[in-house]
Amino acid sequence: MKNVFIIANWKMQLDDAASEALAQEVVRRWAGQGATRSDVTVVLCPSHVALERVHPVVKGTAVWLGAQDCFWEDKGAYTGEVSPVTLKQLGCEWCIVGHSERRGFLNETDEMVNRKVAALMRSGINPIVCVGETREERTAGRRDAVVIGQVRAALANIRPVGTQRIVIAYEPRWVIGTGQAVAPEDAASMHNLIIQTLFDLYPNDIVERQFSVIYGGSVDSTNLAGFLSFDVIHGALVGGAALKADEFVRLAEIAADSIKP
Ligand code: PGA
Repeated sequence: MKNVFIIANWKMQLDDAASEALAQEVVRRWAGQGATRSDVTVVLCPSHVALERVHPVVKGTAVWLGAQDCFWEDKGAYTGEVSPVTLKQLGCEWCIVGHSERRGFLNETDEMVNRKVAALMRSGINPIVCVGETREERTAGRRDAVVIGQVRAALANIRPVGTQRIVIAYEPRWVIGTGQAVAPEDAASMHNLIIQTLFDLYPNDIVERQFSVIYGGSVDSTNLAGFLSFDVIHGALVGGAALKADEFVRLAEIAADSIKP
């Protein structure tokens, strides 16, 4: 059966009080339905400073907590960085790495992303690995090579064990925050290539049990069903449309409706 992820990336948009209030509203609207829908995983990723306030709100509900980034070492002289061990203590089950805003504004490299994935796995946190091409790379016909290169680099020497999950979020960088998603067929063709790459890297049962590939980039309640109508698209990483509880929970409901019993 298809499992679908609806993941909110709140970026640096909300202070801790607003994060707590939005989490309360999401839990209030989704907890009842969520309790009966283990095939839909809803994750909220507040900023690091809001994690401590959001955790008690989601704890024990059908909503999971994630972080937006981490460092690749557990402890040490790394000014300003946050350890995955601390994120785990704060209740994070998930963590985004390699988001295009970090690759773009902070020069995060594939090697850094790979080290972060390894650190998260050590701490028992499931990584959400963002990959995606720039507009220039796409125009130059390099979409597939760039994205597959990012996937391979992020997963170098990584092997999920036990019940660990890895989500790959395909986010064409040039549509993030624009209100103009790519066509679902376009995303699906990239998803197929990513899944093929995963089958090249891992045994089939590991790919099927432990990996999911989701789409991100201007997802909202008007276009999500189109993406989820493709079998290879297992959810969405959502920015702007995750900042209002009714719209975000609507996405979780659309995800639930999209899964054929
Ligand atoms: P968007 O952001 O939904 O606002 O395009 C998605 C993301 O950056 O993950």
